[in-house]
Amino acid sequence: MTLSPRESTPALLQIDAILTRLTGRQALEEVCRFLRGSFRHYRWVGIYRVDGPTLVLDAWDGAQATEHTRIPIERGVCGRAAREGRTVIVDDVRSDPEYLACFLETRAEIVVPIRDRDHVLGEIDIDGNSVGAYDGSDRRFLAAVAAMLCGARGAAAAGPPPS
Ligand code: SME
Repeated sequence: MTLSPRESTPALLQIDAILTRLTGRQALEEVCRFLRGSFRHYRWVGIYRVDGPTLVLDAWDGAQATEHTRIPIERGVCGRAAREGRTVIVDDVRSDPEYLACFLETRAEIVVPIRDRDHVLGEIDIDGNSVGAYDGSDRRFLAAVAAMLCGARGAAAAGPPPS
């Protein structure tokens, strides 16, 4: 699956509109809903916040909830992306020994850090149902989304959102 600029540019404008209209947890939830609703290969979308040594799930959209609402930073694909401060794409989760399973149908995963310069504040975590679902076009698009989340007032950059 490849995201063309024709698909990704209007999506970034929509996300900008969401982040102008909403703040805090509502904004994050709406971004998750928008991403999942817009791209068929984004089957589960979550946004984690770094809270000391733990990743805490702030918002998500998908068919089912995950049991992994708090992930120690030394564990999982999510932990790897946060520790290394870089995007991780797993083509086939069944061959990644660090993968923490959430959903039976998941076959691929992409995790993109939300960073403020060298500091990882959180991450976007997306699961897909086919092997090799994600490529450089997803990496670039989601890095742009992460940059917008970092800049948004009340989003991951601002710490715990109001409950
Ligand atoms: N698979 C992730 C855990 C989070 S779920 O995908 C929602 C991991 O290995 O860190």
